[in-house]
Amino acid sequence: SKTRHFKWEVEYMYWSPDCMEGVVMGINGQFPGPTIRAVAGDTIVVELTNRLHTEGVVIHWHGIRQFGTPWADGTASISQCAINPGETFIYRYKVDKAGTYFYHGHYGMQRSAGLYGSLVVEVGEGQKEPFHYDGEFNLLLSDWWHKGSQEQEVALSSKPFRWIGEPQTLLINGRGQYNCSLAAHVTNSSSPQCQFRGNEQCSPQILHVQPHKTYRLRVSSTTALASLNLQIGNHKMVMVEADGNYIQPVAVDDLDIYSGESYSVLIHTDQDPSKNYWISVSVRGREPKTPQGLTILNYQTTSASKLPTSTPPVSPLWNDYNHSKSFSNKILALMGSPKPPTTYNRRIILLNTQNTINGFTKWAINNISLTLPPTPYLGAIKHRLSNAFDQKSPPENFPNDYDVMKPPTNTNSTYGNGVYMLEFRTTVDVILQNANALATGVSEIHPWHLHGHDFWVLGYGEGKFREKDAKRFNLKNPPLRNTAVIFPFGWTALRFVADNPGVWAFHCHIEPHLHMGMGVVFAEGVHLVKDVPNHALACGLTGKMLMSNYSHH
Ligand code: C2O
Ligand code: CU
Repeated sequence: SKTRHFKWEVEYMYWSPDCMEGVVMGINGQFPGPTIRAVAGDTIVVELTNRLHTEGVVIHWHGIRQFGTPWADGTASISQCAINPGETFIYRYKVDKAGTYFYHGHYGMQRSAGLYGSLVVEVGEGQKEPFHYDGEFNLLLSDWWHKGSQEQEVALSSKPFRWIGEPQTLLINGRGQYNCSLAAHVTNSSSPQCQFRGNEQCSPQILHVQPHKTYRLRVSSTTALASLNLQIGNHKMVMVEADGNYIQPVAVDDLDIYSGESYSVLIHTDQDPSKNYWISVSVRGREPKTPQGLTILNYQTTSASKLPTSTPPVSPLWNDYNHSKSFSNKILALMGSPKPPTTYNRRIILLNTQNTINGFTKWAINNISLTLPPTPYLGAIKHRLSNAFDQKSPPENFPNDYDVMKPPTNTNSTYGNGVYMLEFRTTVDVILQNANALATGVSEIHPWHLHGHDFWVLGYGEGKFREKDAKRFNLKNPPLRNTAVIFPFGWTALRFVADNPGVWAFHCHIEPHLHMGMGVVFAEGVHLVKDVPNHALACGLTGKMLMSNYSHH
């Protein structure tokens, strides 16, 4: 195994992700940031310099478990202090498991600002994937607003609340088209056809393939908001990997992907080689006001500039939740994958509600809206600084008589930053319980992401979770994942083993929702954590502690 060194500078820069110029967060002058490619067992070293002038920055390596290096998880207020302008922080961690991952900013709303990129881990030497392919492509999906992330953040924190609205554009590898359409010649759209010279920042990245080959597409979604559906004209996809874990191969016509998820699909290029085909991405789960994101699958036996003659594939109706549910239920672990423990030590039930606190619109989990503290939990817990955050454990459950089908009646929601302290190496069940939001009859999709672990998805259900629902849990071949969705008015059951010393965020991956408090914090075995660089803790109460240690010597 190798150590792979990277020197990165994060800065704001002018860019035209969707042919309209705006400001993005770039890395080394690139948007999206550079792709990291490594081999399982490698060590990644990223020397990250903050060139933002007026704000801190951190980068989270989404899906990498950080065994032994919880301080390198890149979550502001949890694993480290934000890196100050002009400063350099060194992330050093092992990528122990092959798979499709990505990275992104995890401070304020920097992911919305465009701070993200792909991270691909190949199987270690002498190892084999349980499937074959001739070539591969990376599709990093995101959504883009013309309103800057600063203004979005202010809007969400205002009283009265101002919603950011739907994204203007869907981006594939950071590229989309706002004021024109690739497909204008075949659809009856009012927008003109896009004209490219070829080197525009917004021109689509075309996938060039040979006929009669198998390709692996590594698809991941780092959207701020949108749930997506991906289709490739005339081509079936066979899903083989989800969130860095192998799954039972399953053929699908279209792929649902929620923010925080990644998949590998195989396609076979067995269609008419004198044609090109659309790859289309559309919004699901919210009434779409955003045009499809498009790019082209080009058979190299024909010209890449030839546009498909058919219309781009249309996704299932945005609110066809049965389609989405049956898709999620198709994802099962590949035979031979690690199985979950058959029993649990602790079951935490987390009610997801939207509430108002002093007139501010927030999301709350068991009535608590997460507000991150100035001292990173990792240092605060390790050094027992009991003033750094609420010492009272957040609730394990919600009142029995709470009606999840009605707007919230829990008027006493509060801000909080308590931690679920997990007994090291125990098995934890989490039931994510969805509910009606503030408006009557409305319940949203929330993709929940866990840092530091994979969990087994034991099942999904409708309405309120009941003890007897646990009898239907899939303990035979539940998929291991790091992100799982809760459907409107439903619940999702997860199980994981708390075997990774550190402090870990568990939150809705919709960036505005997280910003509005939709998350919790887990901690386990923190006394076992070693070698936390001082620089990670040089703020808040741990910063003061370090200063007084220094002056005493
Ligand atoms: Cu990809 Cu805490 O997030
Ligand atoms: Cu959410």
